[in-house]
Amino acid sequence: MKNLVFKSEEHVVNISFLGKTSELSALIPNNKKYCVVLDKKISNFHKSFVDELQSRNFSIFTIDSPEKQKNINTCLDVINFMQKDGFNRNDAVIGIGGGAVTDLAGFIASSYMRGITYIQIPTSLLAQVDASVGGKTGVNHGNIKNFIGSFYNPSEILICTEFLNSLNEQEFLNGFSEVLKHGLITSQTTLSKIKSLAHKILDRDTDVLLELIEESIDIKSQIVKEDFREKGKRKFLNFGHTFAHGIESVNHDVPILHGHAVLIGMLMALDYSKELGFLGDDSYRNAKESIGEFDYDFTDIELNAEEIFEAMKSDKKNTKAINLILLKEIGQPFVFEETSNSNLKDFITKFINDFKK
Ligand SMILES: NC(=O)c1ccc[n+]([C@@H]2O[C@H](COP(=O)([O-])OP(=O)(O)OC[C@H]3O[C@@H](n4cnc5c(N)ncnc54)[C@H](O)[C@@H]3O)[C@@H](O)[C@H]2O)c1
Repeated sequence: MKNLVFKSEEHVVNISFLGKTSELSALIPNNKKYCVVLDKKISNFHKSFVDELQSRNFSIFTIDSPEKQKNINTCLDVINFMQKDGFNRNDAVIGIGGGAVTDLAGFIASSYMRGITYIQIPTSLLAQVDASVGGKTGVNHGNIKNFIGSFYNPSEILICTEFLNSLNEQEFLNGFSEVLKHGLITSQTTLSKIKSLAHKILDRDTDVLLELIEESIDIKSQIVKEDFREKGKRKFLNFGHTFAHGIESVNHDVPILHGHAVLIGMLMALDYSKELGFLGDDSYRNAKESIGEFDYDFTDIELNAEEIFEAMKSDKKNTKAINLILLKEIGQPFVFEETSNSNLKDFITKFINDFKK
């Protein structure tokens, strides 16, 4: 028997950080034909930027309802649009929008003629600090999120903080959970910085945001680089997420902001880390104080301990034990396999009884 081994080259992704949308167009070279998959809200809120793309004769496919249209039918619509317009393998797709649009556009780029150049311009904070990095693309299918997808990296990521000015406070905080998470799983220094800069962050100070977004992307890309296919370290990025998925399933009928569920999930993970004796009092207090600087609105989130626990148990990844990412220290995450259903259930019940929305 003979084994064939194909070693793929490392893919280089260039990331640019900008404060003004007027600086973006100059970073898109003139040597290709572009199909822009565009979030409609960007046309509404950032008209001069979209006018600039139109003036360069880019073909634009507008997405009105991103998460609803993140499906295979929209992919086929865009692919038909590109095929009719004569796009070939030397051309490119640009995804401009929140994570739903950039995931969709990335998947189209990965499958059109077996993969063409993809440029990503994420416009929500969540898309900038989380969805932009790691090469996951995809669409929802049959009520299951991201069921169809691929790993495909963009060649360029253009991050511009001016887009963030049109997010309302809760949409902004939705993405900020991931910045907090990156701090909690990597270093006390990052977390302290976030705490001391909280006012400037909430005022959307360009320089502060650029610094924090860049740091957050560095943290995620370093982890992803070491574990692209999520066999080890990348699991730490799920800090707070096992609890959050439970919360999201309970709120399935009236979907809530993912980042808000993650924030509650991280508070639960911090409490559980402390309760089990892994996380010391000072670190616990520091983490809670840093998070407390940000005014998350949880009023619409339903929290039912029994249902959250059942949803966590039925998660496909939790076969024998429930896997939780906990902290030994700020910046020291580890996988904890909880085999005692009753301990976990009691903890969730107590947490929710004490939780102040
Ligand atoms: N690929 C990954 O690794 C990854 C990681 C996390 C999340 N995701 C995906 O990302 C999506 C969530 O991302 P999201 O929170 O950006 O959601 P989203 O794309 O649905 O955007 C949220 C809302 O913000 C609007 N919006 C986007 N940019 C805006 C701006 N600058 N100003 C005003 N409104 C704006 C959108 O139109 C939408 O109404 C989910 O589909 C999720 O599966 C992917």
